[in-house]
Amino acid sequence: MQKLIKTFISNCPEDTIQFAKDLSTTISYGSTIFMIGDLGSGKTTFTKGFAAGLGYSNEVQSPTYPILNEYSNSNNFIYHFDLYRLKSVSEFLEIGGIEYLSSQNGICIIEWPELIEGFDIDNKFKISFSVNDDISGRKIEVYK
Ligand SMILES: Nc1ncnc2c1ncn2[C@@H]1O[C@H](COP(=O)(O)OP(=O)(O)OP(=O)(O)O)[C@@H](O)[C@H]1O
Ligand SMILES: [Mg+2]
Repeated sequence: MQKLIKTFISNCPEDTIQFAKDLSTTISYGSTIFMIGDLGSGKTTFTKGFAAGLGYSNEVQSPTYPILNEYSNSNNFIYHFDLYRLKSVSEFLEIGGIEYLSSQNGICIIEWPELIEGFDIDNKFKISFSVNDDISGRKIEVYK
């Protein structure tokens, strides 16, 4: 059972990016973040801010089609997954999922992680995104 450690109300994409930048400096390499939330709730937007906060200069793009986008910054990496299109755990294993999850100089950020919910993962965070009635409002909750 994970514990709620932070709640943030975002009113626009820029708020989400700033929150992610601030949070990024508190999460160490070797961690994995499960990103839970509906289509368009802000998971990729958050990842853009998170990568910028850690000094990555690459433009973060949605990994929905490639499944995995890899960003590097000197000897460190962000592995940004979107498992939405995967149908089975074996597809995740085939792309080397376990190796990425155990990387000590990488942070795995995983959109649509439900497929691998049962995996035993060290240093795991969960961030949930919910869309408020207000079209640009988002509630972001961080669990550790
Ligand atoms: N407060 C907000 N925070 C983040 N994004 C917002 C906010 N308000 C509006 N948006 C808009 O919502 C959309 C979020 O898209 P994004 O690609 O980040 O979602 P996603 O959760 O990654 O979706 P998917 O599951 O399809 O990958 C963007 O178009 C963004 O501009
Ligand atoms: Mg996305």
